[in-house]
Amino acid sequence: MVYIDQTLLPGRYDVMRCTTVEDLARAIRRLEIRGAPALGIAGAMGVALAAARSAETDPGRFQAEIRRAAGLLRGTRPTAVNLAWGIDRVARKVAMAASVAEAKALAVAEANAVAEEDERTCRRLGNFGEELFPTTCTALTHCNAGALACRCWGTALGVIRSAVATGKDVRVISCETRPLNQGSRLTCWELARDGIDVTLIPDSSAAYLMRKGEIDLVIVGADRITKDAVFNKIGTYMHAVAAHHHGIPFYVAAPLSTFDLSRRETDIVIEERDRAELAGCGDRQLAPDDVKVLNYAFDATPLDLVDAIITEIGVLRPPYDKSFRLVSEPAESREI
Ligand code: MRU
Repeated sequence: MVYIDQTLLPGRYDVMRCTTVEDLARAIRRLEIRGAPALGIAGAMGVALAAARSAETDPGRFQAEIRRAAGLLRGTRPTAVNLAWGIDRVARKVAMAASVAEAKALAVAEANAVAEEDERTCRRLGNFGEELFPTTCTALTHCNAGALACRCWGTALGVIRSAVATGKDVRVISCETRPLNQGSRLTCWELARDGIDVTLIPDSSAAYLMRKGEIDLVIVGADRITKDAVFNKIGTYMHAVAAHHHGIPFYVAAPLSTFDLSRRETDIVIEERDRAELAGCGDRQLAPDDVKVLNYAFDATPLDLVDAIITEIGVLRPPYDKSFRLVSEPAESREI
């Protein structure tokens, strides 16, 4: 499978090829591939890769090999539920196949379907979400929920792209998103490339800009939505608190594959990353050698701070215990 190595942007745009599940797992751990929907696609592709490349002819041993590959991929990042969702979609097809040959064909077809659906999902979600944007507005976003985090278009940035496509005058404030700078490196790169007006700020400026009346709305993506909280990049919660304090709408844009409504906030493992990400930058030391470091990759924002969740089936609003019922309903009986 091929992917853009996101750790090299914005300096270099390198398309990489990985041919083994082990390589893919390493790329996911290193955040070469990142962003919840992109992780869903990578998980699906990874299981298909394992199936397609397997030399095993015995059905039992083949199935065991695929289960091992799925387990390896699943263990790479614990918080974004899309990863497990993508893996499971393809693994289920493999498990129900009558032969090794059928399993290989089904796995590849399902992984391609996951990728293709993602594009349609983002476009639909973008069209629903852009209706929340005033004709002229400044939107603050955090991390990167754009084309790089999906197959294309994006979730939060997809809504922004859709708003711009309908002729709205949208200015974007992109938080740098320390420590790995998905905002400055990726969101600014993507939006500038599309000619969308984007301004970079340090994460710590957000509340002050809200106080000065310079932000009209906040829009972010999500890594997992439980029945009581939205998980997204660390720092999202502080933007939600600040937006609430200043009466600014706080929107989340996410596909249904990000919902995990059988769980609560406290059930979820928040990924903790290496101290080196925070204690240094390239060759430069940013903290004493022996200082303790706590480097959570994500936080959880309680739903009472979320004004709307934009999905591919429409805009969900509070009370979420009611609107979330639509997420679990069969597609044909949904009404939004
Ligand atoms: O650690 P990352 O870069 O994978 O974190 C990504 C985010 O938090 C995104 O905001 C989220 O996955 C939504 S992407 C559409």
